Amino acid sequence: MIEVERLEKWYGFAQALKGISFRVATGEVIGFLGPNGAGKSTTMKILTGFLLPTSGRATVDGFDVVEDSLAVRRRIGYLPESTPLYGEMRVDEYLRFCTEIRGVPASRCKAAIARAVELCGLERVLGKDIVELSKGFRQRVGLAQAIVHEPPVLILDEPTSGLDPNQIVEVRKLVQRLGAEHTVILSTHYLQEVEKSCSRVIIVHQGRIVADGTQQELLATQPSGALRARVRGPEAAVLARCAELLPGCAVAVAERTGDAVEYRVDVGSAGAPVEQAFARLVVENGFDLLLLERERATLEDVFRALTLGSEKEVARA
Ligand SMILES: Nc1ncnc2c1ncn2[C@@H]1O[C@H](COP(=O)(O)OP(=O)(O)O)[C@@H](O)[C@H]1O
Ligand SMILES: [Mg+2]
Repeated sequence: MIEVERLEKWYGFAQALKGISFRVATGEVIGFLGPNGAGKSTTMKILTGFLLPTSGRATVDGFDVVEDSLAVRRRIGYLPESTPLYGEMRVDEYLRFCTEIRGVPASRCKAAIARAVELCGLERVLGKDIVELSKGFRQRVGLAQAIVHEPPVLILDEPTSGLDPNQIVEVRKLVQRLGAEHTVILSTHYLQEVEKSCSRVIIVHQGRIVADGTQQELLATQPSGALRARVRGPEAAVLARCAELLPGCAVAVAERTGDAVEYRVDVGSAGAPVEQAFARLVVENGFDLLLLERERATLEDVFRALTLGSEKEVARA
């Protein structure tokens, strides 16, 4: 549905995109991540025809974003970073206005607006002026304008930024609903949003793609985490047995609770057998094993591993 090939963008003497390439299949929901200034919004603006690339090309449903900009815009719903709403318009007027400027045939307008209103939960505020609405509702109106011409593709630039935790949950649920019916590119700083809503993750850093894959694929790139184990038994004896039977692993006491001790076993380069070896040494010595689990890498670990150093870049710029 979306093909992006070696996109570059210069703003004056600053290069914001340094050759971005990716593809999005129909129905995919892409989490588009990256630190501030990475180039997410620039990429989205090029895809939606609001900005011209310096070089490279992009197509949406086979249409070139530069040469067939109108055809592309008809197929894309776009929620920009700062939602441009007309405060003095009523919600229903605004949505009708959006269908008109996007060329929705008059016969379909009513049904198209009704669908957007239903999906975004706007029934209660249709008669209100947009300026009266809370930020959460404004964002829902922003999403409604993005889907009102029934585009197959949605490009959402930080839809939950600036919302309170309740509003974030609301808008996140809405984005999940929209993801069931659309191909979506969603940029956000909330990694839980990506964990819940996205089938694939693309991480951009300093104008380049540094990761592109499913969450499982990205998590698998991280070194396996430490082992946490809670054991009932004499601490000194446990540590002595560990030193003997788990060479190459650093074992430390993490927490003492009642008669149990929690140990953290840094497995170094050792793989899965450490779990077995640890369990065996505990049981063979007659200690009780109360908990044994591996700390799992998170999307945040992947993000940090791939994008740290941005502060330095910013400081230099
Ligand atoms: N209109 C502009 N003029 C000059 N530089 C810009 C403009 N818009 C963005 N930039 C720069 O391009 C880079 C990428 O910005 P942007 O695409 O907004 O990143 P993101 O959305 O990932 O935070 C940043 O260094 C930003 O300062
Ligand atoms: Mg941005």
